[in-house]
Amino acid sequence: MPGPSPTQTAQPDPKPKNHRRRLLFLAPPLLAVAVALLLGASTNPLPRRFLRLLLGPKTSVLRPAEPRPAADPSPDAGRPPCVLWMAPFVSGGGYCSEAWSYVAALDAHAAVGAGKNFTLAIAHHGDLESPEFWFGLPEQSKNLAYRLAATRCELARAVVVCHSEPGAWYPPMYEALPCPPTGYDDPAFVIGRTMFETDRVSPEHVRRCNQMDAVWVPTDFHVSTFVKSGVDRAKVVKVVQAVDVEFFDPAKHVALPLPIGVPVMVPEGSRLEHGDPKGRGFVFLSVFKWEQRKGWDVLLRAFLQEFSGADDVVLYLLINAYHSDTNFIGKIRRFVEESSIKEPAKGWAEIQVIDEHVPQSSLPSLYKAADAFVLPTRGEGWGRPVVEAMAMALPVIVTNWSGPTEYLTEENGYPLDIDRLTEVTEGPFKGHLCAEPSVDHLRALMRYVIGDREEARSKGKKAREDMMEKFSPEIVARIVADKIQQALVNTQLTED
Ligand SMILES: *[C@@H]1O[C@H](CO)[C@@H](O)[C@H](O)[C@H]1NC(C)=O
Ligand SMILES: *[C@@H]1O[C@H](CO)[C@@H](O)[C@H](O)[C@H]1NC(C)=O
Repeated sequence: MPGPSPTQTAQPDPKPKNHRRRLLFLAPPLLAVAVALLLGASTNPLPRRFLRLLLGPKTSVLRPAEPRPAADPSPDAGRPPCVLWMAPFVSGGGYCSEAWSYVAALDAHAAVGAGKNFTLAIAHHGDLESPEFWFGLPEQSKNLAYRLAATRCELARAVVVCHSEPGAWYPPMYEALPCPPTGYDDPAFVIGRTMFETDRVSPEHVRRCNQMDAVWVPTDFHVSTFVKSGVDRAKVVKVVQAVDVEFFDPAKHVALPLPIGVPVMVPEGSRLEHGDPKGRGFVFLSVFKWEQRKGWDVLLRAFLQEFSGADDVVLYLLINAYHSDTNFIGKIRRFVEESSIKEPAKGWAEIQVIDEHVPQSSLPSLYKAADAFVLPTRGEGWGRPVVEAMAMALPVIVTNWSGPTEYLTEENGYPLDIDRLTEVTEGPFKGHLCAEPSVDHLRALMRYVIGDREEARSKGKKAREDMMEKFSPEIVARIVADKIQQALVNTQLTED
């Protein structure tokens, strides 16, 4: 998945190999320090518990450790309450980028009112730290992380946000810094932020959600699936996700010159060995992790059946590895060979795989080089690449099920029909249902978009307007700050 949002240059681009070693080596002592601090806090003779958590290599070789005072014993009574946001800030995964987008937005918009009534603190929690991701973060983001990780936060006066997969919540089901750090009794209010991509929530996750004072989910789809599965209706709150419309702004970027990538399917015996040097008339782009869930098989089937070498069209695939090796070209060729898709008389339509690393900073240019974005997913929590494409004013063809139903309409894009719901056959969500997008409808939509570019462009324009109006960091920061304010009022940490 693409990296964090408001920290847009945050993709692990510079990859200092020697640093990687060093931090991995450092990680256990760091964790030990964090745990020691926690234990120190829980056996603290002080009536209230103070927390100082470390995030990242603050005391590492990168910066000589400054002598830090132990917990500041002065009373917190007169200070504003605090929000301790605990998320996998250093993992580089989906929750990581979402958490960054919230804390960066809250921090940036504190001046205009959002988050005026509380101080913000963060701690790493959940997925493992990725040194590569940490080193790839821009200085600005690292400094924000240092600052927020060093913010004083007294649990008794804190709203704790556990932003992760519920298995990591207290008590964690695997080795992880728990959230809340010392259980549910110490903080004033505990919020769980999570989401799933199927039609339900497993019983263990329901149980864990119900331990929270509130559960924040990104869409109405999730409100409904969580409540239907047994999560207390009164606790489930919709809090949408932000997209960085300032960064993903088509006016600020030039299109990446095409062709790039490696041609996978090319017309037989053609000169297209390295792609058509003059490029193609219409460019589809898809961005996804290599996972069955993303519906890449549906996309290949639809594209290769609908188009041939005679069509002035190309499909670009930007693929990230997901528990898989990166030989996507081999995998795609094998899929086509083993499938019933027949090579058209005029040869295969062109598909290009971008298998080199595209830094986050170049993503907008890639979107800009495309005429339409397509993702026939089987289920999404939110669909970050989709909203990024929409912010870049691209018309999108995306499955009208799960997360995308929150923002995708017939006015701002092309909702893709599903044929039916099907059972997940393996993994932790076995037995749950997810969507099977329609290959026929996808073929029809792709053909239609090429035929009516005028309409496609106007839907793209509307897509950007909708993103700016409903999902900009500023707007989402206000939504989050309002929900936190409600929690503060409920717990009487502030008057209303
Ligand atoms: C998309 O899905 C939503 C939610 O199920 C539904 O209300 C809407 O009518 C669908 N849109 C289209 C174009 O099918
Ligand atoms: C901050 O708290 C005050 C008093 O409790 C309240 O009136 C105000 O609306 C709050 N501000 C925000 C931005 O929530």
